[in-house]
Amino acid sequence: MGVTMGIRSMPWDEWIELDNQFEIYHRIRAHRIRTRGMGAICVLPDNPGVVESGATAAVEVVHELAEYLSRRYPTTFKVSRHLDDSPDAISSKYGWEGARPIRTITIIPLSATYDIPLNTDESRAAERALEVAALIIQEDLALMIEGSDGRYYFQAGAICIPGFWRMQDKIGLPLDEIHITGDVPKYREKLEMSMGRFFQRLAVEKPVARNNYSLQVLDPRKPQSSPINTVPEVIHNLDDEEEIDFEELAWSTSANGPENSFIHGGHRVRGPQEVLVPAPSIANVRLRSERQTLRRLPLSGAIVFTIRTYLTPIQTLGQEPGVPGRLASALRGWGRNVSIYKGKERGNWWNVVLEYLDSCWNEQLAQGTSLEGGGKENYPL
Ligand code: HEM
Repeated sequence: MGVTMGIRSMPWDEWIELDNQFEIYHRIRAHRIRTRGMGAICVLPDNPGVVESGATAAVEVVHELAEYLSRRYPTTFKVSRHLDDSPDAISSKYGWEGARPIRTITIIPLSATYDIPLNTDESRAAERALEVAALIIQEDLALMIEGSDGRYYFQAGAICIPGFWRMQDKIGLPLDEIHITGDVPKYREKLEMSMGRFFQRLAVEKPVARNNYSLQVLDPRKPQSSPINTVPEVIHNLDDEEEIDFEELAWSTSANGPENSFIHGGHRVRGPQEVLVPAPSIANVRLRSERQTLRRLPLSGAIVFTIRTYLTPIQTLGQEPGVPGRLASALRGWGRNVSIYKGKERGNWWNVVLEYLDSCWNEQLAQGTSLEGGGKENYPL
């Protein structure tokens, strides 16, 4: 299939997804906010003549999320509102359906309550708004603001678990530069024009979603990995971050080397910083998939890009009817540029994964399973 934007319209009740890994994601994300500072939460000021600050959109997005979550997941979230007669509370446009604006949001199962800033006046209000946003959902967030040249700039974000890119390499860039500096396959030829137009026209009531996937290898020299919601029995010599995030959800050290010394230069030139690891066992390979959404905020007009990341062991996928056949044929369909971008040659996983998928698929074929087998809705394949 040729390269396309791959977007589809998004049912409103699918904007934000929660699952049974909420608590571990929350722990990892809170740790990243504590230890990474502006690498996790960043709000740029005005860039005069080019584009405005992302601050107003940051405060708007946390109000939107709190309104949404308290309705969509009422047993998980509860909110309190500004019921006083202060001018700020009365004039605020943030409350939905004529309600007063939200003051606090509580994640009921975690007994965690957060204050939500009412505007950008107080110090670090916008950063605090994004910190709360990052802690009440499992998604990362990028806020895109239209510049005077009509392009959309990444002016604020809560990027806690990006895996393969860092906030500091992308923040402040317009949409095209974000992708060009990443060597996204066929970007200039196939995507740049349509994405630019799409961003300008995106209507408030027409949110969209798209998916992507790649393979992620965990260093086989680390302790035997296990599904991300369980803690391995033996943990040897792990630093703080590894102990909390031993599946490398937040940053793929096994593929990219240490985050702090990562040299951003696109996937083609990643060679020297590659970490050379022996061929992994299949137990160490994950499908890293993302469900992304785009939505225009009604008041500021900023575009919110959400990125929900899932790490699934290939061995789990191998048991899903039809999935090993579909995944193997998706991998074999990668052209040259996609292979470079997605790291076919990095990490020695290719043969291990294809042999495994082929054997699972042959077993399924022998039992009469079809390529269209169940589970399709769960995986972007
Ligand atoms: C219609 C909207 C968009 C489309 C069609 C799109 C498309 C893509 C594609 C095709 C890739 C390569 C990986 C993949 O297959 O997904 C990619 C990577 C990426 N995109 Fe987008 N994108 C969109 C919006 C955005 C936005 C709003 C941001 C804001 C931060 C963003 C940030 C990135 C980053 C950081 C990467 C990784 C680049 C790297 O490897 O250095 N994208 N995008």
